[in-house]
Order: sequence, then C-alpha cells, then structure tokens
Amino acid sequence: MKKPVVILTRRWPAPVEEAMRALFDLRVDLDDRPRNRDELREALRTADAVCPTVTDRLDASVLDIDGVRARVLANFGVGFNHIDLDAARRRGLTVTNTPGVLTDCTADLAMTLLLMTARRAGEGERLIRTERWSGWCPTQMLGTRVTGKTLGLVGFGRIARALARRAHHGFGMRVLFSTPHPPADDVCAALGATPCASLEELLAGADFVSLHCPGGAATRHLIDARRLALMKPSAFLINTARGDVVDEQALAAALAGGRIAGAGLDVFEGEPEVPAALKALDNLVLLPHLGSATVETRVAMGMRVVENLQAFFAGGTPRDRVG
Ligand code: 8YV
Repeated sequence: MKKPVVILTRRWPAPVEEAMRALFDLRVDLDDRPRNRDELREALRTADAVCPTVTDRLDASVLDIDGVRARVLANFGVGFNHIDLDAARRRGLTVTNTPGVLTDCTADLAMTLLLMTARRAGEGERLIRTERWSGWCPTQMLGTRVTGKTLGLVGFGRIARALARRAHHGFGMRVLFSTPHPPADDVCAALGATPCASLEELLAGADFVSLHCPGGAATRHLIDARRLALMKPSAFLINTARGDVVDEQALAAALAGGRIAGAGLDVFEGEPEVPAALKALDNLVLLPHLGSATVETRVAMGMRVVENLQAFFAGGTPRDRVG
C-alpha cells in the first residue's frame, strides 16, 4: 500500500523526521525557512497531510483554493491561531495540535522571564558585556523580591497552572487568576490559587501579571493602555502566550513612562519583527519565542504529531483534534 504523503513546512528534530520517514512518504525542504502563501497552497495540493508551525499563516486566502489534496493539518505546537479553523472546515480538513507535552517547559520559561525581569538579569548581563561594570556597590542594580509576592494569571489552563505550582510551592507566592472556565475548588486549593471576579481586579492586585490565554481575534490587544494603567506601578508583565494579546506600542509607552516596572516577552505580534520602541527599553527582557524550545519538548511535540497522523490515516479520530 502507498504511504501517505506528509509535508513538513520546516525542519523538525532528527528523531522525529526519522520516525516520520519510516511511516510516511515524507517531504521536507532542506532550507529551513517559513513558507510563503504560494508554497503553502502548493503543499496543500501535493500532500495528504501538511504539518505547519507557528511561522505558517494558513488563513482563508491560502485555504480557500481548488484542488486541495490534503485532508489533515497536523500542527507542531499547542497554539493554532495561525490556522483559520472555519476555512479549514470548509475544505474538509481535520486540524490537530500538540497539547500537554510543552506545558512544563513553557511554564519554566515564564518563570525565567519573571525572575529575569524582577532581578534585572538582562540589564546586568548587558552591563558586563559592554564593559560598563565597575564593581560591586550597595545600591547597584537593585531589583524586586519575588518570594511572597502576588502572581496574577490571565487564563488558567495547563501552562498557567504549571506556573502557579512553581510560583506557589517554590516561591511562596500568592496566586490570583482570571478565566471564563474556573476549575474545581480542590484544584485551586492545591495551587494556592484564588479566582478574580474580573481581569481588572486581577491587574490591580498582582505584582506579576502572566498571560496564558490563546491568541486571535477574541484576545487581540486584551492588554491595552487602559488595562496597563490598572496595574501597580511596581508590577511586571510577562507574556509567553501570543504577541497579539498585548498592544506593543501601549506597552512601550507604559514602560518608558514608568507606569509599570518592567516586562518580559517571549512572543511578539509581528514575529520576527520586534518594534524598535521595545528594543530601546532597558526594563524589558526579550526572548525569541523559546517557550517550548528544549530538545525533550520539541521531540515530544513531533512525536505527538506522528501519533495524530497515525490515528488519522488509520481512520480514527486523532487524540488532539481541534477542528
Ligand atoms: C512553539 C508555541 O514553539 O506551541 C505553541 O503554541 O507557541 C510554541 O511552543 C510553536 O508554536 C511551534 O509551532
């Protein structure tokens, strides 16, 4: 029997590509770069399965075409706001993602940003690398204590809860959260987490606000100038979710004007573009979308895609079907 044709839009970790090659007729370009619209359309017309990543924009203009051969979009990643699910449905495409396997590493990275911003780690590194450090001093580069402070989580899914666990049990933090779907009381109690009646209440009460909601139209610029103004002037904003959740110009203004103390960003609205107004700020830590970037996690994400594809081509419903 002929193997299904599977196209990866980017290079994936070697063990995953190897596993895929054994199971499928795998097509992968050696040059590892984001595909343009025409290349994505071509992939949809050529393969039985297309496996995109966050760098591929599969909107209606790409998906609403004739001659689509693909029957499944098996996304490498948990977030799928780069895929228009309605347009995919119109084309009869099944869509899957990779939840669960990147929870811990993304929570670790959110904690990394939280600690780096509070303790001015990026600034300190720059001081040494630019030969500006003249030695220890009692008042040099004083940061903010993390232990015992209040963490506010916007969204309370898997990654937010993993961060709550680290913050509460590791750093003795009080945890607030805001979500339309609060979990059972025992889940909250185990994480020392208290629901807030509104996002506004959370923003006003937190020393660190960490974003864990999906990206897309419903949450675009959720954190805007008005909501930034509700945060304490001593508070920090952390974003490991999606760049479009934050109005970057409003954030740059709030940081430049000292209206909040600092921020840590792993994601940006127009990745890989980062606004100059953000890059100019010292009270901001910038990372290049590293949330799930560990060997273990990226292999696990790829293997989860393999599992989803095997289930799909065996005629079953993939475990991680989202559309
Ligand atoms: C990935 C992510 O690096 O899974 C997600 O939603 O944002 C990241 O962990 C990226 O999406 C891979 O496509």
